[in-house]
Amino acid sequence: MEAIHFSDELLTGDEGIDNEHRLIFFLVNNMQGSVYGGSLEVGLRTYVNILKTHATNHFAHEEEFMALHKYTEMEEHLKEHEGFVNTIKAVEEKMAVGALTFEEIQTMVAEWLNTHIRDMDLKMVLAVRGTASRKPA
Ligand SMILES: [Fe+2]
Ligand SMILES: [Fe+2]
Repeated sequence: MEAIHFSDELLTGDEGIDNEHRLIFFLVNNMQGSVYGGSLEVGLRTYVNILKTHATNHFAHEEEFMALHKYTEMEEHLKEHEGFVNTIKAVEEKMAVGALTFEEIQTMVAEWLNTHIRDMDLKMVLAVRGTASRKPA
């Protein structure tokens, strides 16, 4: 199931950031299939760990980008990234008691990414470079 579709509307205009977004979308959409085979519990945990690792690395890159360009709204952006880390913690707690499915995790992550990229990442690149492919609403 493709929970999240990468479209031109999500392009920020920064190649490095866009490529990382593409990769994360790919993982959200495809990794749940590749971790079947063991127990469901192990599969879910592996899926979440893969997403968490890539998201955390990506956030670190964006944070370096903001610091380098002295982005004035960095603090607000960092708070959103922390929010994602907290969302993942909540997912892990629910997972530990068997209260989540792959699809539910996928939907939660997909919705967060879509909103964050449209609202925050596009604004960040536009402010710094003036080259976002579209202005955020
Ligand atoms: Fe971000
Ligand atoms: Fe991002």
